[in-house]
Amino acid sequence: MAISASFNQELLPIQRPFEDSYVSLTTFLAINFKVMRENNNTFKEYIDSNKQRFLDELFELIRIPSISADSQYKQDVLNAADYLKNKLISAGADVADIHETAGHPIVYGEKIIDPSLPTILVYGHYDVQPADPIELWDTPPFEPTIRNEKIYARGSCDDKGQAYMHIKAFETMMATSNLTCNVKFILEGEEEIGSNNLEIFIRDNKDMLAADVVLISDTDILSNETPSITTGLRGLSYMEVEVIGPNRDLHSGMYGGAVANPLNVLSEMIASLKDKNNRITIPGFYDKVMEYSASKRAEFAKAPFNIDDYKKALDIKAVDGEEGFTTTERTGIRPSLDVNGIWGGYTGEGAKTVLPSKANAKISMRLVPNQSSDEITELFTKHFNAIAPDTVKVKVTPHHGGEAAVTPIDSVAYKAASEAFYEGWGKYPIPTMEGGSIPIVSLFDKILGLNTILFGFGLKEDAIHSPNESYGLFNFYKGIETIVLFYKHFALLNKE
Ligand code: BES
Ligand code: MN
Ligand code: MN
Repeated sequence: MAISASFNQELLPIQRPFEDSYVSLTTFLAINFKVMRENNNTFKEYIDSNKQRFLDELFELIRIPSISADSQYKQDVLNAADYLKNKLISAGADVADIHETAGHPIVYGEKIIDPSLPTILVYGHYDVQPADPIELWDTPPFEPTIRNEKIYARGSCDDKGQAYMHIKAFETMMATSNLTCNVKFILEGEEEIGSNNLEIFIRDNKDMLAADVVLISDTDILSNETPSITTGLRGLSYMEVEVIGPNRDLHSGMYGGAVANPLNVLSEMIASLKDKNNRITIPGFYDKVMEYSASKRAEFAKAPFNIDDYKKALDIKAVDGEEGFTTTERTGIRPSLDVNGIWGGYTGEGAKTVLPSKANAKISMRLVPNQSSDEITELFTKHFNAIAPDTVKVKVTPHHGGEAAVTPIDSVAYKAASEAFYEGWGKYPIPTMEGGSIPIVSLFDKILGLNTILFGFGLKEDAIHSPNESYGLFNFYKGIETIVLFYKHFALLNKE
């Protein structure tokens, strides 16, 4: 690479970036890359000698129960934002502010070392999913506990652990004079509820957020032996439905058999949403689904995947899904429809003979490239109304949604991410497609014109959104190191 050739052999002292204004940009880069090259352990040593403090700080963040979905935790969400703001400042950010929104706040921070250097926009979320069912946790969800080299807690992986790696990587680069790019942080408290206010914030602050690439750690790798980079996420349409029958709960003996039962009707309606091949029956649902060529599919099939391990990890006898597609394809490149919750009637202890007046369900549809969340929401609503029998009324209420995202693998940023993995893990990462959603990714592209690198270090077994969520200590520390390496390679490749 360009700079290495011309530089003299003597090991130079580490320079603090731009504290001395006479250090020119080129000299700065050269000096620091030289230090990184010849004393590549500087930043690793820094991480190593601050290991315990990094973890203690993450624990403090995790102990704040910042559940965005539940208004009871509003103050906790704010406290988590405040905590991160302070950590950005102490890590060396020039700016770190809390921006109020109509919902939960957004933390924005930045360190601009030189406007002519590339700028990385780091995104993460500090809100978490509710912890319930709480009785299934082996240790309290908001009291982080280490077992088998993993941190067990809600948010340990999704996304506090992963977002916090970026602040510690930034601190490390500042402290060891390895910061080679400008950096902007945008940390939100509403990812788990759809990022609606973040979209507004991004539209209103395009100039402030100008950057060269978005870097996000909020996804998985295949395993600690097989690093990977997520290159696709699914979109989402999330619906709530209500089926309304008689004007009150009825005696199931007096009326049963003569009046439509909304729970029975809802079950039949839901069952009819898929056919025997597990294809979704909503008219027009597949019209815009991007189809992948046989060669692309063969490419995906190369990623290691063991169906027996998969079944074993979930304790299921067989997998399920759309006919004609593999398990990896079913979550990676095909849409899906699932009931997330269903309720109505009597669910308390013992038996109560009742024919319920209402039945409800929450239904999510995961979408793939070219499907539009708004369009699918409309198709679902029309169809659900159309299939309702005359015996009931139905009400369909859309919740949040978001578009699928595909990130290119031929960009400078992808190359930098690849090189970072190679240097840190000894292996080039495999590109994968994941089934989850991060709605803001497509908007970074649409509103700011930016590509995203999904630089996540989680594992499937981390059980995000489930009881006993965890995040490996290895992944936390290795993630910090790999992020530092990304900055290094991104700056180097941008200079070429
Ligand atoms: N971090 C996840 C998304 C994710 C996880 C993507 C693992 C790929 C692999 C994120 O926090 C999440 O849970 N997103 C929600 C979307 C939202 C609109 C509620 C999701 O996917 O359900
Ligand atoms: Mn997340
Ligand atoms: Mn999540």
